[in-house]
Amino acid sequence: MSYLELAGLQKRYGNSVAVDDVSLSVEQGESVALLGPSGCGKTTTLRMLAGLIEPNRGTMTLDGSEITKLPAHKRNMGYVFQSYALFPHLSVGRNIAFGLEERGVSRAEIARRIEEGLALVRLGGLGERRPKELSGGQQQRVALARALVIQPSVLLLDESLSNLDAKLRDAMRHEIRSIQRSLGITTLFVTHDQVEALTMCDRIAVMHRGRIAQIGSAEDIYNRPATRFVAEFVGRANVLPLARDAQGRASVWGQTVPVDAADNADLFVRPQRMRIMPLSEPAGADTARLTGRVLRSVFVGDHVEVLVEGAGGQLTVEMPSGTAAPVEGTEVAVVWPRTENRVFQREAP
Ligand SMILES: Nc1ncnc2c1ncn2[C@@H]1O[C@H](COP(=O)(O)OP(=O)(O)OP(=O)(O)O)[C@@H](O)[C@H]1O
Ligand SMILES: [Mg+2]
Repeated sequence: MSYLELAGLQKRYGNSVAVDDVSLSVEQGESVALLGPSGCGKTTTLRMLAGLIEPNRGTMTLDGSEITKLPAHKRNMGYVFQSYALFPHLSVGRNIAFGLEERGVSRAEIARRIEEGLALVRLGGLGERRPKELSGGQQQRVALARALVIQPSVLLLDESLSNLDAKLRDAMRHEIRSIQRSLGITTLFVTHDQVEALTMCDRIAVMHRGRIAQIGSAEDIYNRPATRFVAEFVGRANVLPLARDAQGRASVWGQTVPVDAADNADLFVRPQRMRIMPLSEPAGADTARLTGRVLRSVFVGDHVEVLVEGAGGQLTVEMPSGTAAPVEGTEVAVVWPRTENRVFQREAP
């Protein structure tokens, strides 16, 4: 049994199901991201885990003991809310002390841990300020310190970086990740930001409509998406409609492609796995090939996006910048290894 186990969790509100059936095993010291679109049940899952709301079905186990019915303050979980939820009338230090006072920790020990907590999030010396005298990123770190000083068995972070600017967010990602690692804290990290999930976590659980659609490493999720939803939600993909040619073979834009013929399905290929070649480039035994005309090439910093139009639609190729972008209007071959092909059924309307 893993350190933290969620089994068949469900939460209903009236007739609507916020979390349908979530099962998840997390090892001690592991960091797992819950990644998914708005409304898929991420916060609800976290709140059930924290003991803030009760599930209609399912169980939760921590370190071998069932905690499903345990009140929130007995679960020893640090929760960082999306809106930092600091107490405006209390100083930074008292905010950090909150969970410790609740747990009856001695005054001397509290004072020591406040200092420790402030140092951990690099806010030493700011303990006397009020939250409104801090920047957003500093408030964020106070919320994090408050969750960490109780020495939680599990740290729950809900979109905790979403209100920060890009640069600060990036710095905080690394900061939280290194704190999480050095203290070995088991962490569940809710986000709808893919980069955050990829950089902050050992594994990613992609949620969709109250369920976990796939759980695995970033590479698993990106390279071997289990469902059409995961393939579309994580990273970018060209979605090419499959048809059958006169011989019944699979085709895209009227050109044969090396996949098993399937009806009512699309071929998914990542834009970075495709290359632009001269029209004379043949399709090899291990490659797929489509021809089209370059509509435009756009320089986007670390890569060049090339939009190619064929007889039945468009696709995007991402080329590393530095390579010469093809001239607009040129007829080209788009080539990729056939191992990059993923086929998913079209969803019923
Ligand atoms: N107290 C509530 N009463 C009724 N419905 C609720 C309640 N809380 C959440 N829901 C519904 O449950 C679903 C899941 O909500 P949840 O807050 O878990 O989503 P989320 O994945 O955290 O989304 P977001 O990324 O927008 O924060 C949503 O459809 C939401 O409207
Ligand atoms: Mg949420």
